[in-house]
Amino acid sequence: MSKAKLLTYTGTEYTVTWDRSICTHSEECIRTDSKLFEKGRSPWGQPDLVEFDELERVIKRCPSGALQYRATASEAETLLEAPEPVNTAIAMPNGPLYVRGNLSIVGSDPENPTPARRVALCRCGHSKNKPYCDNSHVAAGFKDSGAVGREGPGLEEKGGELQIIPNKNASVRLVGNVTILAASGCSRWNGPKVSICRCGLSKQKPFCDSSHREGNFETE
Ligand code: FES
Repeated sequence: MSKAKLLTYTGTEYTVTWDRSICTHSEECIRTDSKLFEKGRSPWGQPDLVEFDELERVIKRCPSGALQYRATASEAETLLEAPEPVNTAIAMPNGPLYVRGNLSIVGSDPENPTPARRVALCRCGHSKNKPYCDNSHVAAGFKDSGAVGREGPGLEEKGGELQIIPNKNASVRLVGNVTILAASGCSRWNGPKVSICRCGLSKQKPFCDSSHREGNFETE
């Protein structure tokens, strides 16, 4: 993830970071009764105003993973968050795929994937920060209801590592147990691996149907 847009809010015990380059501005962090974040306040984030449980609860609301926290005394940017027991993905209407769980994002160095707990993946094909969503879907006029039209092969077990593997000029693969939820909450897909459309052209969204080939989709 980009460091250039990483803002840090240092508290006595815990430090909160905000990566603006991957923030989808869902406002889950400020639409709370917590004093951790307050729109218009300077600094906007103040970790010392809340107990740890509250800090963790609010940070975990962030669907993109732009908000993280760590112990202030820790030099390493370790994830304190325990992964949720079930890996889930939600196809947002006209927007990204929000993925949560025990995530491992495979980048240019496959031997060193990036661990994550929450991430927003681009579905429109226009992000300048692929595979992450950068809100380009708004200007691009991306349209999708967020419905999930298939049920999938099912799961024998839940949880475990979910690898997120972007394919060059094609889909992003989710490898590991995952449940894909429709934004409406009315349908879901369950299975151990799936290819998600990230070119914006599939007629079977959120799944890839190989339309990226006709559309000459380029990820670089
Ligand atoms: S990535 Fe969109 S159809 Fe394959």
